[in-house]
Amino acid sequence: MSAKRSVGILSTGSYTPERVLTNFDLEKMVETSDEWIVSRTGIRERRISSPEQASSDLAYEAAKAALEKANISAEQLDMIIVATVTPDMSFPSTACLLQEKLGATRAAAMDLSAACTGFLYGITTATQFIQNGLYKKVLVVGVETLSKITNYKDRNTCVLFGDGAGAAVIGEVTEGYGFQSFELGADGSGGSLLCMPAGGSRTPASVESVEQGLHYLYMAGGEVFKFAVRVMNSATEAVLSKAGVSKDEIDLLVPHQANKRIIDSAVQRFGLSEDKVAINLDRYGNMSSASIPVALDEAVKAGRVKEGDNLILVGFGGGLTWGATLLKWCTTPAEGSK
Ligand code: UT7
Repeated sequence: MSAKRSVGILSTGSYTPERVLTNFDLEKMVETSDEWIVSRTGIRERRISSPEQASSDLAYEAAKAALEKANISAEQLDMIIVATVTPDMSFPSTACLLQEKLGATRAAAMDLSAACTGFLYGITTATQFIQNGLYKKVLVVGVETLSKITNYKDRNTCVLFGDGAGAAVIGEVTEGYGFQSFELGADGSGGSLLCMPAGGSRTPASVESVEQGLHYLYMAGGEVFKFAVRVMNSATEAVLSKAGVSKDEIDLLVPHQANKRIIDSAVQRFGLSEDKVAINLDRYGNMSSASIPVALDEAVKAGRVKEGDNLILVGFGGGLTWGATLLKWCTTPAEGSK
């Protein structure tokens, strides 16, 4: 018997900007078609933040919703982790900016950079702090304003990405429930396949770097696709086996939303019916670290998740990175953990 505390998700919240960019809008911007985008990716539209909105603004809305749902005040938070590759600025961290907006005066705050796998790295990190007794409540936010680093003249990437934020309050839950297993991984040799080449210490911002378009997101789509199919399946298998749960016991798969064909390969591999998969990429495209928490929040709101369900959250992305968790759903705080 493990004496470890049971840690899980106490509540979720999400926010997506109002402005919708459809495939038909994109047809007027680059040489593409709704037919190509839908058949190759499954995406129909995505949300775009306003010029005034930065990542911390989106994160604030999602975080506020999650705190309200859990009936927790910002002052109760011990830590804030923001997973993003589109921070408001290099520093201070978006987590510090969010801490100030929320009035979470007691909370330690840091950003975490694991691209589309950021939310999974974030909840895994939060769990360690709670399991060892240092903290009781940790807010994890996956947020991206990818539209700000997308080149709307490049059809290879501009049809794929969107903006949004998803948040979760992590804390101690009823014994036996919550996160049952985690799997995280990285392969830095594939770093150049998905990156923003300039703006850091390797190639600081300059007139030349801007003229060369090096501040836009770059992706070698085909290679990332093959990697994604491979790790999505292996990471899912790893968390199932670590938790001693069979694929027939999966109640809901909440995958990273990069491409419907990548999700379909996992659905086939694990023999899942459509009602056991959370999909939102048709409406939001790929929101990187926000994709999984937004999909989870929508599934919860739609009544698709009930106590005791086995959820698998699985993602992959730049780094290259990947991660998964098996979560036995329960939002009831453990006795005495408030
Ligand atoms: O979240 C991080 C992880 N990201 C991912 O997992 C994304 C993984 N990759 C993908 O989802 C897919 O590789 C893409 C959606 C990016 C591309 O789909 P694909 O089936 O791999 O297409 P492709 O790259 O093999 O391109 C096929 C053709 C090319 O034309 P040629 O060279 O064969 O003449 C592209 O130029 O499709 C062309 N193409 C387009 N055509 C119309 C690329 N983008 C477009 C477009 N509209 N938007």
